[in-house]
Amino acid sequence: MWSLSPGMHHLNHGSFGAVPVEVQARQSEWRSRWEANTTSFVAKELTPAVEVAREALAEFVGADAAGLVFVRNASQGVASVVRSLEPELQPDDEIVTTSHDYNAVRQTLQYSAAKRDASVRVVDVPFPIEEPSQVVAAVLEQVTARTKLVVIDHVTSSTGLIFPISEIVAALEPDIPVLIDGAHGPGQVPLRLEELGASWYTGNLHKWVCSPKGAAFLHTRQDRREMTVPTVISHAWNAPMAEGSSRYQGLFDWTGTDDMSPWLVVPESIGAVGAAHPGGWPGVMSRNHDLVVEARGLLADILDVEEPAPEEMIGSMAALPLPDGTGQDPGGLLSPLNSELLDRGLEALVMIWPSWPGQILRVSAHLYNEIGEYRKLGETLSDLAG
Ligand SMILES: Cc1ncc(COP(=O)(O)O)c(C=O)c1O
Repeated sequence: MWSLSPGMHHLNHGSFGAVPVEVQARQSEWRSRWEANTTSFVAKELTPAVEVAREALAEFVGADAAGLVFVRNASQGVASVVRSLEPELQPDDEIVTTSHDYNAVRQTLQYSAAKRDASVRVVDVPFPIEEPSQVVAAVLEQVTARTKLVVIDHVTSSTGLIFPISEIVAALEPDIPVLIDGAHGPGQVPLRLEELGASWYTGNLHKWVCSPKGAAFLHTRQDRREMTVPTVISHAWNAPMAEGSSRYQGLFDWTGTDDMSPWLVVPESIGAVGAAHPGGWPGVMSRNHDLVVEARGLLADILDVEEPAPEEMIGSMAALPLPDGTGQDPGGLLSPLNSELLDRGLEALVMIWPSWPGQILRVSAHLYNEIGEYRKLGETLSDLAG
């Protein structure tokens, strides 16, 4: 089903996913169709194909298709929202995020806030953590009359925690807009975006839905669609809008000539991964969850560390704190241990967290993984620690 190299243990699905071979083949077909008829493909085939993909995605994420647009990745989804809001920020306004957010997203927030003399308020969420309500309490305590946007991860990157987004959205919306950074959400946890009711939710499809790189989406609630534009403005800005068509979707659907084949095979990736387990997508998610929980227990034993979060906050990724790194701060986000593991045939993720010499190990579980791989990882980390 996969084209992953057999010489490597792939325990880091969370970073860049993996694409089933049959989905890769369908993507190549779309590319060939465009290359066969370069103009008529765009004129006649592309728009209907994007609509088919959008409808399949809408069903998968429990959303109205009218609120959904494809983007290339979650970074673009976040940037589109934040840059759309930027002109409305006043001096001293605040954007609230948490200490578990993703660095690139934090930089987007900082950039826009700084342009408007506003600021980013970072809510300290504890880790280790005992229960999801600690996240809700920490966030709500820091929201004030100056808060113009709250950005919350659905599943955090470094710490691999499912955050209680429904409770946070219910407490804040519609008065305070919430953007959910769901880079890791789709395919790891079930989504009902219509019920969620957040102003925006952006999600990657290249990770847990196993679509090709370049497939991600932004969902915008109806009342925010007019002000939400992509970071690149193109033809749809002044195009006449036919009855029933939307400028919001027109703008995102074409941000200049690009390869849209990753979007077009989203229905195939949803189908292929769902079909790979007798329980369909719920079966995939619970199988991955069970495996990563077992792996976390095994690693905690081998490495002699405490499990830092309750099982209910774990999806298909789990993080464990590692002993402090030694030597000089290597700078950046990744621990030097990463490279040592890669040299030993192990793809896992060791991040510097919250700052050097703190280190955190994150493992993922997908259908191609089995428990012995995590044992090998634990033993290798033990050996490296000396
Ligand atoms: C929480 C979070 N947000 C945003 C991103 C950015 O995703 P991308 O690089 O696909 O834009 C990531 C990537 O792993 C992430 O973990």
